[in-house]
Amino acid sequence: MPNFFALIPAAGSGSRMGDKLPKQYLSLAGKPMIYHALRRLCHSPRISCVFVVIASGDGEWLRYDWSEFSGKLVVLECGGETRAESVLNGLKASQGISSIGDDDWVLVHDAARPCLSEKQLDKLMDELAEDGVGGLLAVPVADTLKRSDTHGRVEHTESRENLWQAQTPQMFRYKLLREALSGVGGVTMTDDAGAIEALGLRPKLVLSDARNLKVTYPQDLALAELILGNP
Ligand code: C5P
Repeated sequence: MPNFFALIPAAGSGSRMGDKLPKQYLSLAGKPMIYHALRRLCHSPRISCVFVVIASGDGEWLRYDWSEFSGKLVVLECGGETRAESVLNGLKASQGISSIGDDDWVLVHDAARPCLSEKQLDKLMDELAEDGVGGLLAVPVADTLKRSDTHGRVEHTESRENLWQAQTPQMFRYKLLREALSGVGGVTMTDDAGAIEALGLRPKLVLSDARNLKVTYPQDLALAELILGNP
């Protein structure tokens, strides 16, 4: 039976937050934001090991006590220029220091999604455990979508039929994900599924909900705190 591993790329600078501190360390409910994602993944009895990929020389990581996760958490100081590169570097580094095998599942989860629930995590693993490709949590688009011109005026309205917002975790087998990300090269990929799609495969969309939000802008912090306080 394949095992489940998790990997959190946390080597970004979070420039959209307008803060000098990388967003994974911004304070959220009294903890650095990444703590919440780590806690969810480390506490899952189904996940063998959680890798976190930080930027080399990341002094911020060392300022906190992570001992509550010892035994499950492995820190890899090999962040890349892009998210995809950080994930790929993490996958490569994980091989030498863990039992991870080609067919094992890797759940890649953003440090910036602190509100992932146990139910959403279990649903993802349950629905994909037997899948030939893998997949991701996602929500159908609810808002009407407008395409703008360069002057900020509506060019046209996009159909939202069959459109989904991709979330994380995104779950793929180790070897497939490593090959997919290696093949991406310089092409910008904002998620792991995109690299799998580039191979001509079709990841499965697993219905999630808006509570698993991504903290991108300062106003998202208050909402995330509210969700964490009302599980
Ligand atoms: O910036 P964005 O919100 O898209 O980042 C998503 C995730 O990817 C974050 O957890 C961030 O720390 C991580 N990342 C990374 N290496 C980069 C850029 C982003 O690990 N070079």
